Amino acid sequence: MTQQDVAVPAPPVSWKRGLAARVLPAAAVARLAAWNRRLRAMAALAANGWYDARRYWRWSSAGLSDAGLDHTQLAALVTLNWHRLEKGLALPAPRPGFGQDAALRLVALLDLYLERHGMDATAAAGVDTLSAWQDFNRPFGITNTRVAQALARYARHPRPAAGAEGGPEGGPKGGRVYGGTIPVTRAAVHAARPGDVDAFFATRHSVRQFTGEPVDHATLERAVALALHTPSVCNRQGWRVHAFTGAEQRARILAHQNGNRGFGDRAGAVLAVTADLRHFTSVGERYQGWIDGGLFAMTLAWAFHALGLGCCMLNWSVTRETDRALRREAGIPEHESVIMLMAVGHLPDTFTVARSQRKPLDAVLCMH
Ligand SMILES: Cc1cc2nc3c(=O)[nH]c(=O)nc-3n(C[C@H](O)[C@H](O)[C@H](O)COP(=O)(O)O)c2cc1C
Repeated sequence: MTQQDVAVPAPPVSWKRGLAARVLPAAAVARLAAWNRRLRAMAALAANGWYDARRYWRWSSAGLSDAGLDHTQLAALVTLNWHRLEKGLALPAPRPGFGQDAALRLVALLDLYLERHGMDATAAAGVDTLSAWQDFNRPFGITNTRVAQALARYARHPRPAAGAEGGPEGGPKGGRVYGGTIPVTRAAVHAARPGDVDAFFATRHSVRQFTGEPVDHATLERAVALALHTPSVCNRQGWRVHAFTGAEQRARILAHQNGNRGFGDRAGAVLAVTADLRHFTSVGERYQGWIDGGLFAMTLAWAFHALGLGCCMLNWSVTRETDRALRREAGIPEHESVIMLMAVGHLPDTFTVARSQRKPLDAVLCMH
């Protein structure tokens, strides 16, 4: 039997459309059906937009006063403000005395943070950045007395315990430094480049053939640690990765996703990359979670590639019902937006990938 011989059943006609067909001309019925489709899509868009907006309003710090901030929201604001000073210090010629407002805002937030949560890597980054900012300004005869007093207060807090996150560089006074700038040389950057850049990029593919071996926790940790180098808005780093490695668990997660049929069951791990809305601070940042989360997912895909594993991003283009169902299944809290899932696995000796033809360069690059 050829493809053409297969009998295709006629699509079912709803009773409403059947009734309309009896009393209206065919063109009018078609127009009504098109309108019906548009209105239904519009209503669904509004309902799903409301679902996102409601969660953003509930969990971001947009519109909140400092007193109402939870730990994560406050940490995000501390980070945003030390970042303002840190990036100023990283300019080719910082203006002496720049960033007075940011410095005072940071002091206010740090006071609150230290009172509520004590000294940790986030607070230490704020303190060290303030200190680097004062050090920069001192030779110009500029000292902000309120910042100086705050730094004296902060010095009474014990530094974070060894092993806390932060820059590994030894500071001028010894010990770990969490904020400020670091010197870099072009030679060091060039020396760290992969040998064959073209080959490295050209050999990353979405992989849909895995050996079926599990991906161990250490490998997942290594890949996620590499992906922590992803840039994010004002260094907020609002991403999270939920990793599922047990066979049954993986299957239950993948059952909610529509693009893994035929290969998901051979993956050695399934990941959900999410963005924690508590890291975002204004209405203008309402889409930032998707941007930062997407960037993170891409870096993670490159990390798996660099470690010799394969992965395939799995779309999370779903409506709120499916989103809620996955959250229940995976234990993903309401304050995280699911950006995408990822199937990760070990590469077989030989396998095929989709060619995924790319657009020509001039269709993408508009040289002005
Ligand atoms: C956000 C996103 C979602 C994707 N979702 C799926 C999916 O559900 N199933 C799948 O097989 N591939 C999925 N892909 C993989 C794309 O099909 C693939 O990246 C594209 O065809 C380019 O091929 P390449 O990754 O091999 O370069 C997704 C990719 C992205 C970036």
